[in-house]
Amino acid sequence: MNLGINIDHIAVLREARKVNSPNLIDALSILDRAGADQVTIHLREDKRHIQNKDVEDILQHSVLPVNLEMALSQEIISFAYDVQPHRVTIVPEKREEVTTEGGLDIFPIYEIIENSIEEFHNNGIEVSLFIDPIISNIEFAKKLKADWVELHTGKFANLFAMLHSNLSKTHHSISEFKLLSRKELEIELDKAFHNLQESLIFAKNIGLKVAGGHGINYQNIKKLRELDFEELNIGQSIIARSVFVGLEQAIIEMKNLIKGD
Ligand code: PXP
Repeated sequence: MNLGINIDHIAVLREARKVNSPNLIDALSILDRAGADQVTIHLREDKRHIQNKDVEDILQHSVLPVNLEMALSQEIISFAYDVQPHRVTIVPEKREEVTTEGGLDIFPIYEIIENSIEEFHNNGIEVSLFIDPIISNIEFAKKLKADWVELHTGKFANLFAMLHSNLSKTHHSISEFKLLSRKELEIELDKAFHNLQESLIFAKNIGLKVAGGHGINYQNIKKLRELDFEELNIGQSIIARSVFVGLEQAIIEMKNLIKGD
């Protein structure tokens, strides 16, 4: 299972002071040394962490493939054609959200997605769609000629956190489950896991490459690694751990957990 490291949160720390530290380019060699397989960055419309210049610099210096997460805004689409990442992952984006809280709602904007996929392919760029693990989404992604789907693991991760960590029950992203008993949470967690499993198998069977991402951490990976994802994209938990043990060690620990060590 390949590991893409989402380095947005390094840029979050830098943007807190608008200085050049920590430097994203310094992170690239550490990712490579630690055995990461991909650099993932999200160029948000509000540029709250990654900036256009970061994308250009990372593409110039990275020996690893670069996966650019982006919403379908015309400005960012044109920029992506110019800079040519190896892959774009199309994600939904809301200005007020803390992070990408759900998968792409493909149906209302399928024509825009279809045209963009065609244009990205004409520019030699692979396309992934970040979607919730629902069969109809996957069928549609295939119809629109996406190369990859990235299944949103957030629901599984939130339920896992409610059962196995001290995360507050009023935390915004899990408030939909706050009235559930422990038993009901366990049932929901089981359902979320099986949705991921079924979606993954279905997507593979129709010829899509399948990644997973969002909210994956050093605890829930012990369950998620049972699923045969081709790739996981992990950000916040690894960057948070790196504050204490360093980025290289944080990545190595995650790689070992993925392998089951
Ligand atoms: N994959 C996608 C498509 C995302 O939008 C994100 C969050 O930016 C991630 C993976 C990484 O999520 P996390 O930071 O929770 O590990």
